[in-house]
Amino acid sequence: MNSHVLQGKRIAVGVGGGIAAYKAGDFVRELRRQGATVKVSMTKAAQEFITPLTLQSLSGDSVLTDYFDASQEEKFGHLHLARWADAYVVLPATADLLARIAAGMANDAVTTSLLAFRGPVLLAPAMNTAMWEHPATQRNLAVLRATPNTHFVGPASGPLADGDVGPGRLSELNDLIDGVKGLFSAAQLTGKRVLITAGPTREAMDPVRFISNPSTGKMGLAVAHEAHARGATVTVVLGPVGDVGALPFEVVKVVTADDMLEAVMKRVEQADAFIASAAVSDWKPQTVLAHKAKKTEGPQTITVVRTPDVLMTASAKVQANAKRPVLVGFAAETHEVINYAKGKLTRKGLDLIVANDVSAAGAGFAVDTNQVTFIGADGTTSSAQGSKREIAAKLWDLVAKKLGAP
Ligand code: CTP
Repeated sequence: MNSHVLQGKRIAVGVGGGIAAYKAGDFVRELRRQGATVKVSMTKAAQEFITPLTLQSLSGDSVLTDYFDASQEEKFGHLHLARWADAYVVLPATADLLARIAAGMANDAVTTSLLAFRGPVLLAPAMNTAMWEHPATQRNLAVLRATPNTHFVGPASGPLADGDVGPGRLSELNDLIDGVKGLFSAAQLTGKRVLITAGPTREAMDPVRFISNPSTGKMGLAVAHEAHARGATVTVVLGPVGDVGALPFEVVKVVTADDMLEAVMKRVEQADAFIASAAVSDWKPQTVLAHKAKKTEGPQTITVVRTPDVLMTASAKVQANAKRPVLVGFAAETHEVINYAKGKLTRKGLDLIVANDVSAAGAGFAVDTNQVTFIGADGTTSSAQGSKREIAAKLWDLVAKKLGAP
């Protein structure tokens, strides 16, 4: 999603009475951080979980809690809120709140202002799994799904506050924000195919030992999530990382550099963009022993040979094509970052390289933040710092331009 989508947008946030209500604070703060103006309404039950004063402080504006309160109505009543907002988000949308919205009821600050609102609505359900699965809730959902201008984000699956495991969790903050952005932007990358490599590779020496590196695939997966959120059809060729949960796009699991190469070569010509973020092992043992090697006294020597360069091989294959994908690489460096990155950009025939100083604190392997410099084949450079998802958003802002997407 373009990183400026929320700039200047007016968002009404209706908070429902569920345990996830406390997360409304972070949500409001993130909307404002991304440039939106926020006004909050709350149900009575919501006020049992989070105080209006908290949300007033975080939104920087008074909170609508009671539409019978003349002083509130005079200052900024439910109809004002409905006319003011560009979008209305309900979070958490509890079973009770969904039922009332589906029935068109208007009996508290949230439902009255929502019923009077004509713009796009985003509902973020969160409740106990049994309540979610109850036929009454499912009936209400069917009604709401068929209601124009009404969209959903979540619920996510996982452990719930009450100890159950299943659907019912409020979606993660990033997904909620993507949901809001989705209300405003016609998906920028709809119809585009994106191929991404992510994670490490693992090169076996014997059945129990291998050469690898500490990559967790987080950067590549952030790039994938961002492309997916912008409407692209995404395939990630993913090396061996820990459990990544259910992902909303295609994942091709591989182990070695050779496997990764094969998976990429099959797909790269159909892609509109190929983003190589994998930390491919540069070497593999020359021979892979069929049985576990027995240890011996004294030093041992393992002869290693080069693995294929996945990005370079894929780039060479598509360079001469009339329509080739935009090619993006990452350069993980510990010194002479920009110089080395520029060398890789030229050598591998790329359109863009993301230079990453992995020796800097809060950057590189297995952390959630990064600081990078984007270097284009045309010589343009720009820097970015922040969460891997924010870096991914900047990356797609640049690649979308190269794809001719607005
Ligand atoms: N890459 C790849 N296959 C390899 C090595 C690297 O696809 N066998 C890709 C990476 O995914 C990254 C880019 O090439 O996008 C640069 O990777 P990096 O490890 O920084 O550089 P190398 O080419 O391995 O060069 P060096 O080891 O000299 O730093």
